[in-house]
Amino acid sequence: MMILAGDKVNKKVERIGMIIDYLRDNEEAFNSMEKWQVLKALDNEYFECGMHNYITLQLYDELGILPDSLNPYKAFSKFVNETFDIKNKSVIEIGGGNIPRLAKRIASMQELGTITVYDPRLYIKDKLSNMKLIKRRFSSMNNVSSADLLIGLLPCGASSIIVKSAVRHNKDFMIVLCDSHNNLELFDQYNEDLDWPFSFIENTRKIVDENNMGKLKVKYLKEIGNNYPIIYNDRG
Ligand SMILES: C[S@@+](CC[C@H](N)C(=O)[O-])C[C@H]1O[C@@H](n2cnc3c(N)ncnc32)[C@H](O)[C@@H]1O
Repeated sequence: MMILAGDKVNKKVERIGMIIDYLRDNEEAFNSMEKWQVLKALDNEYFECGMHNYITLQLYDELGILPDSLNPYKAFSKFVNETFDIKNKSVIEIGGGNIPRLAKRIASMQELGTITVYDPRLYIKDKLSNMKLIKRRFSSMNNVSSADLLIGLLPCGASSIIVKSAVRHNKDFMIVLCDSHNNLELFDQYNEDLDWPFSFIENTRKIVDENNMGKLKVKYLKEIGNNYPIIYNDRG
């Protein structure tokens, strides 16, 4: 028992050391609030960071210490690839976060394909050669004509921008929806009686049907224990 406890303590010390080193060597990766989030999570018993603490999840995945059972980047990149076969495709990710972990994982699965990431919070350090990082907000005015697929992992207010852009240019899309939103630009028919994201899903379903983009599918990444809906168009 003593040995196990000691081992656990040593592992925790090692993990905290890696995190502190990263924060020291990459001062610009996070703002003060975000650093505070990471520091608060240090005290948690093992990795109770949860899907909501995306800053900590990004950092742990970058450091290679995020278990598969909690890893949205691994689970979602696998699902994107299984559904759209992105090896040789041009993908745009909107809202990639500070450390674009999803994009890095997708880039490493690709052969001739590329991934372009938009996020004003991007911390651009090392990237794979098929990644393009754009440290700006994405809007529906951005040109996506050369893309095959638009994706977002909890892109919050950008969810409706992704759908609008995909529909305007007849592109495939896949989004893991946040549990709240702040952009009703597209969905002024938002039904107050239905909870977000369910009204968003129903409105998107109609838009996908009306624009002959196939059928809207909804899936949950239950294998990593979260209930955030993933929506995508299936041209079947
Ligand atoms: C909840 S975080 C998720 C980050 C990342 N996808 C992850 O799961 O680790 C939402 C991100 O979306 C970005 N975002 C929101 N609206 C955006 C827009 N219009 N264009 C680009 N990024 C946007 C925010 O800056 C933030 O980094």
